[in-house]
Amino acid sequence: MKYNIKITKTQNSHLSDVDFNNIPFGRVFSDHMFVAEYRNGEWEDLRIEPFGRFGIHPAAMALHYGQAIFEGMKASKSFDGKPLFFRPEMHAKRFNNSARRMCMPDVPESLFLEGLHRLVDLDSDWIPPQEGSALYIRPYMFANDEFIGVKPSENYRFIIFTGPVGPYYPKPVSLIAEQEYVRCAVNGGTGEAKVAGNYAASLLPARKANAKGYDQVMWLDANEFKYVQEVGTMNIFFVIDGTVVTPSLNGGILPGITRDSILTIFREKGYPVEERNISVDELIEAHAAGKLQEAFGTGTAAVVAHVSKIAVGDKVMELPPVEQRKLGEMAKKEIDGRRSGKIEDTHGWIVRVKHFETVNV
Ligand code: COI
Repeated sequence: MKYNIKITKTQNSHLSDVDFNNIPFGRVFSDHMFVAEYRNGEWEDLRIEPFGRFGIHPAAMALHYGQAIFEGMKASKSFDGKPLFFRPEMHAKRFNNSARRMCMPDVPESLFLEGLHRLVDLDSDWIPPQEGSALYIRPYMFANDEFIGVKPSENYRFIIFTGPVGPYYPKPVSLIAEQEYVRCAVNGGTGEAKVAGNYAASLLPARKANAKGYDQVMWLDANEFKYVQEVGTMNIFFVIDGTVVTPSLNGGILPGITRDSILTIFREKGYPVEERNISVDELIEAHAAGKLQEAFGTGTAAVVAHVSKIAVGDKVMELPPVEQRKLGEMAKKEIDGRRSGKIEDTHGWIVRVKHFETVNV
């Protein structure tokens, strides 16, 4: 192994407290975390330590100026019990793309991956075996200079922690097109980076959407409020008259790894697929003509989440029942099947978690 990672194991595992048949998303955390400090232009003090709180200076720059990025990824167990990652290199690359956009240092891909393998190997008993569940992995980095003033920080902390999760959306989601607010996700903005502030800017519109009875906001382009972009937590797909359609990556939306995987699978199976602009008017017309057959969101957390209805202003479009959603269901089965090893990994997306015999305590 390339890096010297100091490993301190917990003396107080709480694995036995967890009910794997009933895991709320994002509230249960595994025993350990990987931590690295960026100081004087180097990543140092690499360690795995018991998961827990840490102190932070009140002037830590991330808290004021928002230099904070993250990834969301998953590990699962194959049907015969082997721990697996899904496309970990792609997550490492996207993380560094986000870092560059926010003027933060790269985490070398080899360091990102070694920390990931060591951590998930150590906590592999935390990977839930149940279908539809997984170990959610949260790598993140934040600016740690103790300084008041707007400039890039010189010190950063990189952390990976994990936690077992069940489905993010246990039932189909309802969406409302946002016709008032925009996020930082405009052309030239930060939409294609996984930046904490993008999510912060989505909270008020999301709360307003909830108050109107909708689960999520469907974002439109920030210039004309005409073209669909994505959902707050997922990329979006439609099936219009038999064709799979999703907004093209235009710099304003997140280049989803689940999105990319599903596009690849559909194309490989010979379905007509289009990445292009989709206007809300097109959706309304297709719905009126009975041609809007499916809508679903895709993301690491959500995997594939069916959309039950979409509101655009006063117009509410109910979508066909889930039992009729052939392509969304197929996408979900394909992703889950590859993650469990039941469907052959034809693209080298599945990576076995490396096993380490000895750890330096
Ligand atoms: C993910 O899909 O992993 C995300 O980071 C989105 C968040 C809603 C959990």
